[in-house]
Amino acid sequence: QELQLNLEQIEKNGYDHFMLKEIYEQPEVIKDTFRGRLLADQGIIRMAGIEDNIDKFLNAKRIIIAACGTSWHAALVAEYVIEEFARIPVEVEYASEFRYRNPIIDSGDVIIAISQSGETADTLAAIKLAKSKGAFVFGVCNVVGSSISRETHAGAYTHAGPEIGVASTKAFTTQITVLTLIALRLAKAKGTLANSEYLKYLHELELIPERVEEALTKNEEILKISEVYKDATNCLYLGRGYNYPVALEGALKLKEISYIHAEGYPAAEMKHGPIALIDEHMPVIVIAPEQEHYDKVVSNIQEIKARNGKIIAIVTKGDKQVRELADHVIEVPGISESLTPIITTIPLQLLSYHIAVLRNCNVDQPRNLAKSVTVE
Ligand code: G6P
Repeated sequence: QELQLNLEQIEKNGYDHFMLKEIYEQPEVIKDTFRGRLLADQGIIRMAGIEDNIDKFLNAKRIIIAACGTSWHAALVAEYVIEEFARIPVEVEYASEFRYRNPIIDSGDVIIAISQSGETADTLAAIKLAKSKGAFVFGVCNVVGSSISRETHAGAYTHAGPEIGVASTKAFTTQITVLTLIALRLAKAKGTLANSEYLKYLHELELIPERVEEALTKNEEILKISEVYKDATNCLYLGRGYNYPVALEGALKLKEISYIHAEGYPAAEMKHGPIALIDEHMPVIVIAPEQEHYDKVVSNIQEIKARNGKIIAIVTKGDKQVRELADHVIEVPGISESLTPIITTIPLQLLSYHIAVLRNCNVDQPRNLAKSVTVE
């Protein structure tokens, strides 16, 4: 057993937990996921699984994305980015619902299945159903040779490396990386983005690993904020547009590992329910980078403040307006709005990590959860 423990120490590479190690690996694994695919100087995105099947994507009337858990949140980001860049209608489905509701699928449909493990039973069943109806099924998996990667017609791997922590971190950001590359590749093929815009995004993508690195430097600040809120019983996460799925993922991370009840909401929906919960005991995490409708997020923050809610805001470096209103701000480097999810997710991962550690929770193996869910 001692040998086992030592081995685990070595595997954690000096970090206290796998989750923290995996959070810190993100700049590197995002680079690995770009390698050979993103050739920004040549204006090229090259992914074999897409190139070989480009007609299927271009002729698709719509794309349906099926996934579970954190991968489902990556699917929501993909919906925004594929629709914006490539102008192909996208629908996002929980695999467990999709498989049992007799969905309308035909041979012109493209299904993208996202799964870190490649073994999730519901996602696998959704794929089999879509295939039986003649759809083309494309996988985004992290585990090479997994059931889902074998069951799909084609795919693109995330290169996150083994993810041991039950709460997904680097798998999520590399899923978004792959899906953004796909969106841009399809946009190029369809001519839905001006070439100058397309090239601008390619160059910005190249900068993401260093931007993630910069976001990670806020770790100490985030630890201090975590100390203030570690005993909270409820938490609300709000975001708009591209950062709405980030709010959902932030809330999921917190509940998974710290057992604090947390909900993610699109910021504008706050007034349709969650606002009733806000008082001085309610921390509200607002993802408020510079983006379209920034002003609307600012007014949401004012509404929270008027009800004495505690505000932790994720803002773009140099932000002034939100800083004046929020109790705490965590700065992230600026980037085009459609690329923000990979960056704004980082402080939320660290926040949930530190809160869970301060509450003495088993961060890497939270109660009742499994890394891969191979049963219904
Ligand atoms: C489990 C894990 C989550 C994961 C979900 C989907 O619930 O604990 O971290 O997001 O399954 O897993 P998949 O491997 O299909 O991405």
